[in-house]
Amino acid sequence: GRLWRYVRGAPKAELHLHIEGTLEPELMFEIAARNGVAVEGTVESHRIRRQSFKDLQDFLDLYYAACDVLKTEEDFRDLMYAYLQRAAVDNVYAAEVFFDPQTHTERGVPFDVVISGLHRGIVEGHRNLEIRANLIMCFLRHLSEESALSTLEQALPHLDKIVGIGLDSGELGNPPSKFERLFERAAGMGLKTVAHAGEEAGPEYILEALELLKVRRIDHGVQCLKDSSLVERLAKEGVPLTTCPLSNMKLQVNSRYFGGRNVTGQLLEAGLRVTINSDDPAYFGGYINDNFVRAVSDCNLTERDVYKMCRNSFTSSFLSDVDKAFCI
Ligand code: ADE
Ligand code: ZN
Repeated sequence: GRLWRYVRGAPKAELHLHIEGTLEPELMFEIAARNGVAVEGTVESHRIRRQSFKDLQDFLDLYYAACDVLKTEEDFRDLMYAYLQRAAVDNVYAAEVFFDPQTHTERGVPFDVVISGLHRGIVEGHRNLEIRANLIMCFLRHLSEESALSTLEQALPHLDKIVGIGLDSGELGNPPSKFERLFERAAGMGLKTVAHAGEEAGPEYILEALELLKVRRIDHGVQCLKDSSLVERLAKEGVPLTTCPLSNMKLQVNSRYFGGRNVTGQLLEAGLRVTINSDDPAYFGGYINDNFVRAVSDCNLTERDVYKMCRNSFTSSFLSDVDKAFCI
């Protein structure tokens, strides 16, 4: 209806999207077949397995296992290109795409293969689909600081292909403080910084990400609602939150922490700079517009709210000021 049309037509930027989380079962089997990798089950059985998750770790176990099929530059190109095609349908003008190099280098796939393939997908997407994309290199927080620092070293010849760094994977027990030196080094190299914080762990992780990692955006950040003084600070400083409504629902964040509620409405009412994103759309049952529609219908939002969050996505992006002005 009218709402869907408004959401679909609104230009938007996607700021929280893991490229590995866009691997649909069909593409996974296609790539597995050409690489001679055995994958158990069928497209249908994988779809069913992805319908629900106990928590973040239950999802991550499946997500990392699926990555085993990705081996060649071609695979990473195809993965990126398929996402950009799908995002263009949702009127995404620009995407800042997370990738997890350690997931692949730990399996013996060279860093250069991963980044060259993803970059090729971006170049072809820009040429054929008129969609812009940039890469944000994420570090797996369950691994050591040493592993992260050596991964940053491997990125040195490719800094022209990366706009920033992020922090993801299992949050509980892996606080931002573990990566203070990494973020300081990356910032010194001119990279922008973001971090997942306050997805499953409490508001103290958000505070650490701001104070110790000096991030420009908080990925998820929904747990700020447990600390009213933190909410006030985020609102006053205009810190962007890249929220992911379907992700929070599928990973039981809403049921465990918010009495089953979608908190998008509360975050907006608190005056926070909220953006809507899809996180891992091949696992959570929808791409960015599905996430908008879910938030609007769960929280009774208006077209004005949708407009505001789309505008927030551009102002919170790492696009140049000229590009921002053009998009808004
Ligand atoms: N990796 C992929 N999706 C993630 C999420 N929602 N949280 C933490 N790490 C992730
Ligand atoms: Zn995420």
